[in-house]
Amino acid sequence: MAASRLNREVSVVAEDIAARLRIAEAVVREAGALALDYFHRRHELKIDAKGLQDLVSQADRESEELIFARMSEAFPGDSFLGEEGGLRQKGPMMWVVDPIDGTANFVRGIPHWCVSIGLVSDHRAVLGAIYDPVADELFAAVAGGGATLNGEPIRVTGQTDIVHARIGLGFSYRSDAGRHSRDVRTILEAGCEYLRLGSGALGLAYTAAGRLDGYYERHINLWDVAGGLVVVAEAGGRSSDFLTPAAVSEGNELLVATPGLFDPLRRLLPAA
Ligand code: IPD
Ligand code: CA
Ligand code: CA
Repeated sequence: MAASRLNREVSVVAEDIAARLRIAEAVVREAGALALDYFHRRHELKIDAKGLQDLVSQADRESEELIFARMSEAFPGDSFLGEEGGLRQKGPMMWVVDPIDGTANFVRGIPHWCVSIGLVSDHRAVLGAIYDPVADELFAAVAGGGATLNGEPIRVTGQTDIVHARIGLGFSYRSDAGRHSRDVRTILEAGCEYLRLGSGALGLAYTAAGRLDGYYERHINLWDVAGGLVVVAEAGGRSSDFLTPAAVSEGNELLVATPGLFDPLRRLLPAA
């Protein structure tokens, strides 16, 4: 292919993805405002249990329906995967949405939760928009375009030393509680500190923004991380190979970290 034609095609793809990001940013803010309104009157919400320590409310369902309505209007040929509504398969580009990540915090009035939108194409995370409406923080990235927080560039820390590191850890009853306890012990005994803040999507966003040096969870679903994976990558972080074909329906384990901490953490927290 002639170089000029290739360049033109690359720039058409870049324009398309930039346009998608603008829409995703507007929609994630709109869904965040809707969820924030429910957060302020959460005592009116009826909370249902989907499983052990796994909750859902009208706020989650409405946030997801709003995002689905906006995305299917703007991109009628795209597929859509939402935590609450499942997969609506159409074209090869798939919007992946967690309408409220950190629901356990949300229903208790703990101001650490977010709305996450990711775009997956050909088993690659190509766009992410994560909005924390309480803090009014929007973390965003497209593949090849850098990562931002409220429009300003962000970068992972340069941390290379485990004894100065502080990572986010996640846990749900989809994984083995004993294994998680051993993981906590292993990293503490190595001199690495951890936080368990209750939102995987914000764990990735905080790693990208240099607030944490990494994030680890033995099992996490695609909707929790589809937005964050590209934000971490574009902020210079390293991730385990999350997006296998099975990860769409089954989730996967996930380690993200600064480049200098990835291998030492991988040795402490082996995948299998
Ligand atoms: C959960 C949160 C939590 C993580 C779990 C997720 P939800 O999502 O991200 O931090 O540890 O794996 O399921 O239920 O709040 O959307
Ligand atoms: Ca989630
Ligand atoms: Ca959720």
